Amino acid sequence: MNTNTTTRQRILTGDRPTGRLHLGHYVGSLQDRVALQYDYDTFIIVADVQALTTNFDRPEALAHDVRQVTLDNLAVGMDPDACTILVQSLVPAIAELTVLYSMLVTVNALRHNPTIKTEAIQRGYKDLTYGFLGYPVSQAADITFCRAHLVPVGDDQMPHIELTRKIVRRFNDLYPLPGSGEPVFPVPAGRVGRVGRLVGLDGQAKMSKSLDNCIYLDDTPAEVARKVRQAVTDPARIHASDPGHPAVCTVFAYHQAVNEEFVPELEAACRAGCIGCVACKDRLARVINALLAPMHERRASYLAHPAGIDEVLAEGTRRARAEGEETMRRVRQAMRIDYFSLDERAEPSVLAFLNAPAFAHSFVP
Ligand code: TRP
Repeated sequence: MNTNTTTRQRILTGDRPTGRLHLGHYVGSLQDRVALQYDYDTFIIVADVQALTTNFDRPEALAHDVRQVTLDNLAVGMDPDACTILVQSLVPAIAELTVLYSMLVTVNALRHNPTIKTEAIQRGYKDLTYGFLGYPVSQAADITFCRAHLVPVGDDQMPHIELTRKIVRRFNDLYPLPGSGEPVFPVPAGRVGRVGRLVGLDGQAKMSKSLDNCIYLDDTPAEVARKVRQAVTDPARIHASDPGHPAVCTVFAYHQAVNEEFVPELEAACRAGCIGCVACKDRLARVINALLAPMHERRASYLAHPAGIDEVLAEGTRRARAEGEETMRRVRQAMRIDYFSLDERAEPSVLAFLNAPAFAHSFVP
């Protein structure tokens, strides 16, 4: 494993702490980040400020949800010794970059962002807050505070990555580092896994907490079996011997997501009416439960020492803050807003600068 933090490229990805993570998160994004964590210097952001864009009236839920999402990441196999898990609101550079980037983004680009549109419709917003409309700008700051190269995400996040790339290109164009002319940021690439999105148990386009159609990563085997049994299948299929239509079946989509090897055999059997929906669902529930079992084990071991979760977060946030400071140092330099140092030791020279005749002179009316 290459653990050299100076040569490896960086990943940044993460989640909004708005509740438990589900199977859609796992196949869409978590699975990829687990697989890549040793090849990249990986940063996982717990995006609590982004959660506030919709839950600003319930901030008291955040403290719990921040730990919940961290635990979900640890449970799926993120290794706290290999990756950096951080709390968004505790990294000042993210807030600072958000403000600076906001100058480079038009209101129209945000209003036409397809993910913003879908979320706004889903939530029935008549009036979008400035913070909600602008969260993709803040997400660009999430991605770039550590100068990330790669962002593994579900497909609904791609419009935000596109925006980030535009902001970064514009920033680099406008503000090369003085002297070397080097860009401050790499242009980050998005990466959607094999399964970009998982349909909901009810057959709706997306598994989503707000649609109440999820299998959660901490669901018990009995809950999983019950939920899978109720999943929507091919409506034209009444008897087990009727030929099925896998393309319209939710359960088939789940087999494709978590049971890839079985798919060719299942597809043929379903079309021929040789496997019934009940058997197909039982088989799926078993596969999902086998997938979740090691996660449950890891979850239980972390829960035996819950203080360890905060230690992971504090340690990751500390590293992230230092990384953010380094980025801001470069950003200020590139934008020529590094007027003077606020370092204690530099104070005499700051005072000298402020008292210098040229500086005083510029304020003479
Ligand atoms: N918007 C993402 C989601 O809803 C969460 C997120 C916040 C994120 N900041 C990020 C994802 C930065 C990738 C990179 O799931």
